[in-house]
Amino acid sequence: MDCDETCKKLPAGAMNALPPAPDPFPAFAAIVVAAGKGLRAGQPLPKQFAQWRGKALVRHCVEALVAAGAAPVVVAIPEGSESLAEDALCGFEQVRFVIGGATRQESVRAALESLSDEAPAYVLIHDAARPVVVPSVLERLLSALDQAPGAIPVLPVVDSLAVDRDGFMDGTANREVLRRVQTPQAFAYADILAAHRNWQGAPHAGDDAQVARMAGLPVTLVAGDEAMYKLTFSEDFVAPLPAVRMGTGYDVHRLADGEDLWLCGVKIEHSQGLVGHSDADVAIHALVDAMLGAVAAGDIGQHFPPSNPQWRGASSGVFLQHACEVVAHAGYVVGNVDVTIICEAPKIGPHRDLMRARLAELMGVDIGCVSVKATTTEGLGFTGRREGIAAQAIATLVKAG
Ligand code: CTP
Ligand code: MG
Repeated sequence: MDCDETCKKLPAGAMNALPPAPDPFPAFAAIVVAAGKGLRAGQPLPKQFAQWRGKALVRHCVEALVAAGAAPVVVAIPEGSESLAEDALCGFEQVRFVIGGATRQESVRAALESLSDEAPAYVLIHDAARPVVVPSVLERLLSALDQAPGAIPVLPVVDSLAVDRDGFMDGTANREVLRRVQTPQAFAYADILAAHRNWQGAPHAGDDAQVARMAGLPVTLVAGDEAMYKLTFSEDFVAPLPAVRMGTGYDVHRLADGEDLWLCGVKIEHSQGLVGHSDADVAIHALVDAMLGAVAAGDIGQHFPPSNPQWRGASSGVFLQHACEVVAHAGYVVGNVDVTIICEAPKIGPHRDLMRARLAELMGVDIGCVSVKATTTEGLGFTGRREGIAAQAIATLVKAG
């Protein structure tokens, strides 16, 4: 339904009764500085183009700024990186590029100059290295421009401070009056452009608030947000491991005469056994898939291809021990596992504790962390007709250390 149809359905006079559409901010442009080398981050690409949480770092903040209504968004990029920038930022009609300079200040200046025809009333200036932009902080910044030509997000200093003189403490500073400064920083465009044009200070202005203050512009402080941190060092690009991960597994093997029956690493006397390339231990196979799944490491077929003769008749215990190694390599240990075997026969109950003990031994965990259960399907389906046995498993892993 489009707008016109909505209006036709409203009673006469209703349009006047509607509250005005919310218009929280005046129009604003944004500058994203992404022209640095990212040397400290040690990534294969300049950090602003490196992948972080599924996309190029610079794309995160550009998406947030566009969503907040910034237009245009001028991104300062290093000379020669046009195709990297286009790949990272495809699909935004508001975005355009300028070539940055040798310092951050020069990159900002180039972007400000490129806006001189539009001369927007307000501009947000932001580091590409800060992927998270919190909308409520933007709201505070833009609202604060009513009172001053500059507004910046700040955070308190919680640690006490020491002046480092050749590795020895040489005085302190009063943390009560100090603030940590973030971006985006908001300015009246004409004022910050003039400030940058007049910048005579040290060649490396840490941010635009310093340039503004040097020009004598008042800069208001608003509350920032810890989420808007800057990625600087290589460890900042290492995703923190979740504390707990889970995976599920499922497998089926056919029953046939003349085969051994292995379940959970235990050989069981039965009229039939399971057919498979390895020992066909369907329960261990489901468990291995659960463990590999929990660390997103593929499935049992990828690790032990049935086409490889090496695994013909192999004991599935080898697969389970390998899955434990994969899990350990990913930085996890087994929290608990729960296996369900689905068959009419044999009865699993008499073997349950031996199965649990064998799985615990193979995985190197306490037996209390290993559950083996069984169910029938009331005679229904292939398991009910005793044509095969199915098994499902869930594994919970916890971060090691
Ligand atoms: N920046 C820029 N132009 C420069 C230098 C820096 O646009 N000549 C940008 C960076 O791309 C970054 C932001 O300024 O988004 C903050 O700088 P910083 O975190 O120091 O990034 P780099 O200078 O790229 O990193 P490094 O100092 O480790 O080389
Ligand atoms: Mg730098």
